[in-house]
Parts: sequence; structure tokens; C-alpha cells
Amino acid sequence: MLTMSSRFAVIAGPGGYPAPRLAEALGAPLVEAEHKVFPDGEAYVRIPEGLGGRIAVVVQSMYPEQDRRFVEALQLVEAAKGVGAEHVILVAPYTAYARQDRRFRTGEPISIKVVLHSLRVAGADAFITVDIHKPESLTYFGGPAYNVDPAPVFAEALRGEENLVVIAPDRGALRRAKSLAEHLGASYDYLEKFRDRVTGEITMKPKELNVEGKTVVLVDDIISTGGTIAKAAEILRSRGASKVIVAVSHALMVGNAREKIAKAGISRLIALDTVPPKPGVEVHSAAGLIADAVKRVAEEQGWLF
Ligand code: R5P
Repeated sequence: MLTMSSRFAVIAGPGGYPAPRLAEALGAPLVEAEHKVFPDGEAYVRIPEGLGGRIAVVVQSMYPEQDRRFVEALQLVEAAKGVGAEHVILVAPYTAYARQDRRFRTGEPISIKVVLHSLRVAGADAFITVDIHKPESLTYFGGPAYNVDPAPVFAEALRGEENLVVIAPDRGALRRAKSLAEHLGASYDYLEKFRDRVTGEITMKPKELNVEGKTVVLVDDIISTGGTIAKAAEILRSRGASKVIVAVSHALMVGNAREKIAKAGISRLIALDTVPPKPGVEVHSAAGLIADAVKRVAEEQGWLF
């Protein structure tokens, strides 16, 4: 009889970070998917080994090149079934389109609904992601779907820091601040952010926050252009925070995000290995937490014999 870990095979797609660490944490073989782009621009993937009766853990993060990574994810799921996987768990450490989770303006799509539903239709039996914009979106998958909370990794990275308070840059990120604060035994609060849905411009209303002389941990899911975090850090510094540390799951760092953040007086920028590493970012691995989620889903679904 196969051991629990050998039930799994980890398939690394073109967006397969952190697949090697995940395979190691699961004690499972790692299979690198072949991939290329046809001259006309279409994506091609191939899983070069049979998966006879295994649980395929397909790892495909969806940044950068969100659209291509998404199409490859669909292809990888279908291919895994084609080479004999009994069950397919799609692990998307970063799920693209998660922020378009409702129709902010008439005529817009619910993009995350399309993404998750399509993955299910392609054959994914379960879905795991890390710190999705809103966990409620996972219902669009229509099957077992899990969101990994990064708080234990951030808490470990912050060990040794003192006099902490955790702040979310907007109300939407409050549950992240709460979870991290609980892990750290610290208090938490949030700022009030408004984004113009047409221009994308951000304004923040400084609330009455007591951060005087504190080390503030600003926690969020994503740094894209860096506007949100830079603005929040400036407000917190102006309110007397002695140090601002940022903990975000997905440091996309688009354009001049790095410069904006440096200018805002941020001491440390902590992120996860859900997207490729960027200069100036202190990367910590989410692989252990993802491995726990993979084992949990397989056990709950009764896939481990
Ligand atoms: C928005 O609600 C998200 O949680 C992030 O705060 C936002 O997407 C970050 O974007 P940017 O870095 O461009 O301000």
C-alpha cells in the first residue's frame, strides 16, 4: 500500500512557485510540466509522466502574465486527468482576477467567478489558494476550495520585533489584521480607504489611531502599484509610528512600487513565495501551510484510502 505522501505527485506548471518546496513538504515526487508558446501565440503544456492513480497537485500561480497562466492552469488540470490522475488539486498560490469579485459598475463581469468556475469545469476536484482577496469568492469554484491564511508565516518572520500593533490599510483587510494580531498577541485596527473606480485614485481618511511610538505592521493581500501601502505608511508615520513594517502575501511590485515604498519610510517588506521574488522584498515560504491544506483536503474528501 502506498504511504499517504506517495499518494501525491506535485506538478509544477510554468507558474509553479513554490512547487519544489511543496513537493519536499509533502514527501512527493515533483514533475515539471513542459511548456512553450506556439508561433501564433497559443499556450502548450505537457505532463511528461503518467500519474496512474495518484492525487495530482498542480501548482500554477497566476502572476506574471495572468491570462496565459490561467489558460495553462486549465490545460494542466485537463492534462493531469489525461495521464491518469485519480484526483486533481489545483494549487494557485496567487489567484489572478480575485479583486474583480463583484460588479462595481454596471456592465462589468465578476471575473473571479469566471476563473474559478472554468477551473472546476476543466476537471479540478479541489482548489487551494493563498490569501485570496475575499475568501467568500471561493464559493464560485463549486467544490472543495480552501484559502491559506499566511498569518503563521508572518508571525514567525516578525519574531523579535517588539511593541507591535497591526493595521489594515482598509476595512476589507481587517480580517487579515485580526488574524495576524491574534498570532502576535497584539492589538489591531484599520484605516479608511476610498478608490475612485474610474481613475483608480486612492484617498485615505486618517482615523483616530493610537500608533505613537509603536512598531506598526501594515498587512494586506497585494502590493500592486504600491499606492495603498505607501499612502497608509505615510499616514501612520505622521501619527507617530516609530517603525512601519509591511507584511503582504503577494508582492507584485508593478512599475515604481519599490521607489514609492522606499519613499514612504517602510523598514521591512515581508512577502510570500507565491509570485517571483522582487528586489527589496524579504520572501518567506508558504509551502508548509499549502502542504497542510493539501493533506487536509485529501483527508476530508476521503481520497487517502
Ligand atoms: C485592494 O483592496 C487590495 O487589497 C490592495 O490593497 C490593492 O489591490 C493594492 O493595490 P496598489 O498596490 O496598486 O495600491
